[in-house]
Amino acid sequence: MSAAPLLSSKPGRHAAAIARAVDVLISSKGHASPLRLERACALLRQHAPLHWVERPGVRPFWAVTRYADIVAIETRSRDFAAGPRTYLASEASEAVLQRVTGKPQAVRSLTEMDAPDHAAYRAVIQGAFAPPALRAMESWLTQWAAEILDRVAARGDACDFARDVALPFTFRVIGRMLGTPEADDARLARLAQAFVAAEDPQRRFAEAPGDTMRMAMLALRDYFEAVVADRRASPRDDLASLIAESAPHGAAMPHYELISYFILLVTAGHDTTSLALAGGLEALLADPGQLERLRAEPELLDPAIEEMLRWTTPVRHFMRTAVGDTEVAGQVIREGEALALFFHSGNRDEAVFDEAGTFRIDRSPNPHIAFGRGPHVCMGLQLARMQMRAMFAELLRRTSHIALAGRVRRVESPFMSGVSGLPIHIRFRE
Ligand code: HEM
Repeated sequence: MSAAPLLSSKPGRHAAAIARAVDVLISSKGHASPLRLERACALLRQHAPLHWVERPGVRPFWAVTRYADIVAIETRSRDFAAGPRTYLASEASEAVLQRVTGKPQAVRSLTEMDAPDHAAYRAVIQGAFAPPALRAMESWLTQWAAEILDRVAARGDACDFARDVALPFTFRVIGRMLGTPEADDARLARLAQAFVAAEDPQRRFAEAPGDTMRMAMLALRDYFEAVVADRRASPRDDLASLIAESAPHGAAMPHYELISYFILLVTAGHDTTSLALAGGLEALLADPGQLERLRAEPELLDPAIEEMLRWTTPVRHFMRTAVGDTEVAGQVIREGEALALFFHSGNRDEAVFDEAGTFRIDRSPNPHIAFGRGPHVCMGLQLARMQMRAMFAELLRRTSHIALAGRVRRVESPFMSGVSGLPIHIRFRE
């Protein structure tokens, strides 16, 4: 599909416009401004889809914004390693975390691993995300969605859907799987959220993102060290016991990787789905005709959820590093160069999605990359879909009216972003 050029023909202005678009793409505030982000990504996809970025304070990298290039890099896992550089951080933040861990990254979990460690570590908990285990959770998920909505209904006809529904609903799912008590949910969620989006003014504990990450990481480490000791002494039927007792290469998991595993699950396991739920509802409220259609045609729930995932793309990027000299779409990439894959931009690529900038609950096909692709594809993708299905089915069945009732708040982070505040009026049926 061809689009009108988004740039002036003057080369100097051209370069300046691309530089401004990159600033939006890699800034925290850029991801909290959907329209600016859309425009920046569209310009980069059209004029600089593989763009070498050099900015003071950040190690240089390629910004990759086209769907086809992102998928190619993700699936060529022998040419592009997942570790050690997984997400964009300032050199100052990287230095703070390296002082704490003594390693090249804050944590070393699945997202930082390559063969042969990656498959061995992924196998540790894979069974808990396989269809039989997930089927066994289905009725509890519906019950839990109903209970959360009962709590909201008991308080009246207003709530913040992100804070009062999406967050507690999704956190308990991973908490229950891990085996942590509900009383710890709020504290753990706060630590996990600060760790993945340390730039956000509402999430951070300190001015500098590196300090916030360090504080959150150390608190999570202390918490999960105690959990591991407890499960080693008396194992239970939960993920914490499975991880604590695992031996990925025939020996106990080293301490750094062990704690990293818990930090990955507690972060990946709730914020993502919570942002997709809140952003999905925001999209429906912005177009009430589609909300009413979904009430009338519940068979559209599955495609609607896929569209919410494409639309919100809560994980904004992951990075890869070239293992040797290679090429992507005719561009030479040198050994050791890092590439940031902007999933959100790929999911708005006009070459793949008709009317890419429009939210359509009946979109089909919808080959979105909100969960990534290749060997690192999200392990919780079916669980996330099940949670979204359970919550939206219950919400639509139990309510007769939902409308926006205030300002929408968004997470300021180029890594994990989306709707974190969604005040609504909500009317429950008798
Ligand atoms: C809407 C919800 C979610 C979204 C958008 C999402 C997105 C992603 C993305 C983009 C990746 C990286 C994929 C790649 O590098 O190609 C990932 C990895 C991962 N996700 Fe999710 N995720 C979601 C929910 C969950 C849930 C509920 C869990 C449950 C614990 C989970 C666990 C993981 C794990 C363990 C990985 C690492 C996989 C690996 O590196 O092998 N995610 N997710």
